Amino acid sequence: MTLSDLDDLLAARHSCRAFRADPVPRADIERIVSTARRVPSWCNAQPWQLVITSGAETDAFRAALMEEVQRGTAKPDLGFPSGYSGVYQDRRRTCGWALYEAVGVEKGDRAGSAAQMMKNFSLFDAPHCAIVSSPAELGGYGAMDCGGFVTAFTLAAQALGVATIPQAAVASYAPFLHRYFGIGEDRLILCAISFGYSDTGHPANAFRTERAPLAEFVEWRG
Ligand SMILES: Cc1cc2nc3c(=O)[nH]c(=O)nc-3n(C[C@H](O)[C@H](O)[C@H](O)COP(=O)(O)O)c2cc1C
Repeated sequence: MTLSDLDDLLAARHSCRAFRADPVPRADIERIVSTARRVPSWCNAQPWQLVITSGAETDAFRAALMEEVQRGTAKPDLGFPSGYSGVYQDRRRTCGWALYEAVGVEKGDRAGSAAQMMKNFSLFDAPHCAIVSSPAELGGYGAMDCGGFVTAFTLAAQALGVATIPQAAVASYAPFLHRYFGIGEDRLILCAISFGYSDTGHPANAFRTERAPLAEFVEWRG
């Protein structure tokens, strides 16, 4: 494999926010997870654990999550960012506006942007959802290892034509997720990955995000 093959795969992947209903064959999901587990982790601890839903289980989870969001309060296991400033705020706004522009939500349309945000909790209609957790005792480094796993999952999926979106929004309802899936309190729920086949004609899938040039984030010494 060449670097340009990897680059093509990375460039083709994007976060999908509208899925078709047809399921991904179990054998393909197993291939994606088998590939993703190749990522490095500190001491090779491989801290990731997944609960993966399919079919009626995804639909039941989607319904229960949407109900929870109406009445529960968000309480993530891993503290959410306390703020975005400078370039981080700029990049966050740019990708948010790109999404809203694609789906026809005007600037200042709070109801429209809230409705789009709520689609996180219907899992963007994905037929599958993976809940990713890490042992609490491994702290930030366990989360870091799982971040690598999540990225590899998205790339392996892309290689099979399967679309994905990592979702911190789902993890914000961590107490509910612990109860619903029986995930022990000794684990941190980090994010969900909703996945399936892209509804390619949907406006929410019509935009792409940019990346900063190297000069913005590499400091060369020597
Ligand atoms: C850890 C993580 C959590 C994310 N959480 C959400 C989320 O809750 N909702 C959402 O719409 N996108 C979420 N995203 C997707 C990002 O917005 C997306 O990766 C970023 O804008 C870059 O766009 P791209 O994935 O299309 O390249 C998340 C991505 C990551 C890596």
